[in-house]
Amino acid sequence: MGSRIHQLVLFLFIHFSFSIAQNDDGSVMRVLKDSWRNTPPNWEDNPDPCSGWDGIRCRDSRIISIILTSMGVTGTLSGDVGQLTELEILDLSYNRLTGPLSPRIGNLRKLRNLQLVDCDFSGPLPETLGSLESLTFLSLNLNGFTGPIPPSIGNLTNLYWLDLADNRLTGSIPVSSGNTPGLDNLTNALHFHLGGNRLSGDIPERIFHSNLDLIHLLLENNQLTGTIPDTLGLVKSLEVVRLDRNSLTGNVPSNINNLTNLFELYLSNNLLTGQVPNLTGLDALFYLDLSNNTFDLSDVPSWFTTLQSLTTLNMNSTSLVGQLPAELFSIPQLQNVDLSGNRLNGTLDIGSSQSDQLQQVDLQNNQIADFRQRRQSTIAVILVGNPICMETGATSDPFCSLPPNNDTPYSTQLEKCTSIDCRRGQASPNCRCAFPYTGNLVFRAPSFSDLGNRAIYEALRGQMIDYFRETQLPVDSVSLRNPSKNLDGYLVITLQLFPFADERFNRTGLVDVGFSLSNQTFKPNDTFGTYYFQAENYDFSAGASGGKSSNTGAIVGAVVGGCVLAALVIVAGLYVFRKKDQADRTTHESSPFALWDANNGSGAVPQVKGTKAFSFEELSKCTNNFSEFNNIGTGGYGMVYKGSLPDGQLVAIKRATRGSTQGGLEFKTEIELLSRVHHRNLVSLIGFCFDQGEQMLVYEYIVNGTVKDSLSGRSGFRLDWVRRLRIALGAARGLQYLHDLADPPIIHRDVKTNNILLDERLVAKVADFGLSKSLGDANRTHVTTQVKGTMGYMDPEYYMTNQLTEKSDVYSFGVVLLELITARNPIEKGKYIVREVKQAMDKSKELYNLQDILDPTIGLTTQLKGLERFVDIALRCVEEIGDRRPTMSEVVKEIESIMELAGLNPNAESTSNSAAYNNASKGSEHPYTNDSLFAYSGDHFPAKLDPK
Ligand SMILES: *[C@@H]1O[C@H](CO)[C@@H](O)[C@H](O)[C@H]1NC(C)=O
Ligand SMILES: *[C@@H]1O[C@H](CO)[C@@H](O)[C@H](O)[C@H]1NC(C)=O
Ligand SMILES: *[C@@H]1O[C@H](CO)[C@@H](O)[C@H](O)[C@H]1NC(C)=O
Ligand SMILES: *[C@@H]1O[C@H](CO)[C@@H](O)[C@H](O)[C@H]1NC(C)=O
Repeated sequence: MGSRIHQLVLFLFIHFSFSIAQNDDGSVMRVLKDSWRNTPPNWEDNPDPCSGWDGIRCRDSRIISIILTSMGVTGTLSGDVGQLTELEILDLSYNRLTGPLSPRIGNLRKLRNLQLVDCDFSGPLPETLGSLESLTFLSLNLNGFTGPIPPSIGNLTNLYWLDLADNRLTGSIPVSSGNTPGLDNLTNALHFHLGGNRLSGDIPERIFHSNLDLIHLLLENNQLTGTIPDTLGLVKSLEVVRLDRNSLTGNVPSNINNLTNLFELYLSNNLLTGQVPNLTGLDALFYLDLSNNTFDLSDVPSWFTTLQSLTTLNMNSTSLVGQLPAELFSIPQLQNVDLSGNRLNGTLDIGSSQSDQLQQVDLQNNQIADFRQRRQSTIAVILVGNPICMETGATSDPFCSLPPNNDTPYSTQLEKCTSIDCRRGQASPNCRCAFPYTGNLVFRAPSFSDLGNRAIYEALRGQMIDYFRETQLPVDSVSLRNPSKNLDGYLVITLQLFPFADERFNRTGLVDVGFSLSNQTFKPNDTFGTYYFQAENYDFSAGASGGKSSNTGAIVGAVVGGCVLAALVIVAGLYVFRKKDQADRTTHESSPFALWDANNGSGAVPQVKGTKAFSFEELSKCTNNFSEFNNIGTGGYGMVYKGSLPDGQLVAIKRATRGSTQGGLEFKTEIELLSRVHHRNLVSLIGFCFDQGEQMLVYEYIVNGTVKDSLSGRSGFRLDWVRRLRIALGAARGLQYLHDLADPPIIHRDVKTNNILLDERLVAKVADFGLSKSLGDANRTHVTTQVKGTMGYMDPEYYMTNQLTEKSDVYSFGVVLLELITARNPIEKGKYIVREVKQAMDKSKELYNLQDILDPTIGLTTQLKGLERFVDIALRCVEEIGDRRPTMSEVVKEIESIMELAGLNPNAESTSNSAAYNNASKGSEHPYTNDSLFAYSGDHFPAKLDPK
């Protein structure tokens, strides 16, 4: 039987390789298409991609460009793309593509642009990227790539743009040695954007030399150590240097002064020592941030008055002593000064000829005794925590309290369109109703800090309008909104582009517009600097009249057909892989894998009671060969599949992608640990698979999906206040168990609403200890690890120090609590939920004045009893300093007490909680099927989870 399948598969495999082997771009493209969903509808009209498929361009029946920006495509990128040897541009940015980037991408010798911005790719960057000899533009930012930067990228001597930012890359920055190339060989590169990864080690001295023409060096938010090499001073072309948020030590090299073209310099949040650097030579500098380092006590530097281009001076906590010179404030374009947390003393004199752009002077926590202002002005001066504000009666002075945050953010004005009431779409700045293409423009190093300056945004808008007009792209008007700084200190502006002439963009139009942004063809002036664009999906059809149902039919058909084909291709691939594996195994008999291979007999798996070892075949069978339909999620670790065991039990299978598997012993340790963890509020491990090079964990399947989905309304039932309290309590108890009762204690490390599941009775179950770390020795209070977790939930202390404690989970849980009441993402449009709640909060008012921020659906049927205390405990959990946060057991007690005060029994089984549960379950397997009170109309099931 098995061998017959093998024969069939082999046949198909040969058949496929054969048909692909003859440079038939059409068949290759159809294979790619079949591993994708949501491809443009006109791909169904004609099997030949060169017959005018949206997003595809050909020359002499060979495909030369694939641009599918913001098409809503999901699926994986088949390695067969490597057969498209005439391809020059591949831009799949802003789609939800998952899985690894195949090494076969390296066959694309003519590729000039490779742009996969903001997808969900994972796994290592293939070494073969170094074979793309024609490449000039490489943007892989905003994905989940792991592992090191392949040194082979140093072979790409034509590259001018390298953006690998915001992934999970590790290892050190590769530089050449002997025959191995490195980033120092990229002598044509102007941009190294490597921020937001987990790069470690020293910044190699060798990477900088005078033949480099780099203008942007962005290494912020990594784990780099060692000193800043003095070779940096050799790269005279540099305009932006961001090394902030690393662990750099030592003195700032003095020849940094040679960088006379530097506009922006960020060295903040490192461990730099010695005297505050002498920056006298940096005449062009607009933006300087040296905050939060460990410099020696230094006098106010003389260059404070000579850097005449400065807009922004941030030297928060840099050990400055002495009196500030009044001339500082007459630097013509100065906007913001933050010198808080120093030892500045004497009199603060803002002088009489101050910059007319000056917005704010923050001198909190210094030793200033007097303040002189020789002119009426609107500048916000903050002297809280200085002797001048400690005198009796001083508290009434405006500078002795924090200024209210009342700037109205910029928004492109639409007032001349007030008479327009769009039935469909949105009013554009030109007063037409249309469906805009929306996303965030994110600027990593703008030259200004005054976010309230309308003229700046109007100028940007003007540049964009001119650009689209000149390039004849189908954009009618441009709107910009809500500029704000996100947690990374990047400037985020919401961009909306309205289609020209039509109500909607068509696909070719949108692709052209998307590419102009993913490829930086539109370049704003230096005030803004480079950016990246993060697009929302564009809806080509919602609300459009007619045509929809037939479309859907076509799509479903295509998907079904596609999956069968994709499954076959995968099976064919697996077959080859397995052959290779079997060969490998004979030579690795002594590895820990061998001991653990389930095929090696049951005696080989000691200490794992009640946990079953599954073979690869068993799990493959119960997930239809890990079919796309069974795929219910992705994580850093790999894919999650739904499966059904032979006895009918539903399971969720976490399958590590090749490349992210751990060592055999680590895997064994993890299983031993998980199999000992049993609690009502934790998802149980049923088994595992350690077979054929795979590592999988098999969990019980939880029917009602994630809390995240419920909050967003995707699950089809509504969470009222009482339910949310129960969910909070359940999840808190689960975490308390991990911290206090598991032996050894377990720190979850990735607490978030996506990792809290709801069972059929809406009991919260904490899931995904895949990243968990045990404390091991019970006497240790922390472990030092590479930072893992999810942006927005991550404990800032852990993030800065890499020291993981139980309090890191408490922080994330606090964010979860805030999400539970607001139903907002922790970071939404650049706004951080913790800050938003704190800012909106007024303890003297009912519900702390949070009505506007609360999820509107929370209180439709219940009163919000205890909400204030709930907010209090949430905010205690997100205290900056871990020691000030409560323990999980304190959190549990507090939530219990809130429930008791609200007249609820925290220990009641949820069945007794409300009649709705009992009523709803009558005559139906699913307790919510008839629960119209709580269900959204239509779809009662979490669409992805329970199709039956
Ligand atoms: C890379 O640069 C180093 C140092 O400049 C040089 O010795 C080496 O030959 C270069 N390697 C390649 C592959 O260009
Ligand atoms: C800073 O550097 C400049 C030019 O290199 C020099 O003239 C000046 O004396 C230096 N200042 C200090 C305080 O070392
Ligand atoms: C300055 O540093 C202090 C302490 O590190 C911090 O609380 C404050 O927010 C910082 N100010 C700014 C503007 O970053
Ligand atoms: C400011 O502090 C410095 C260093 O501690 C000291 O020498 C100086 O006298 C102080 N100035 C004033 C006005 O207090």
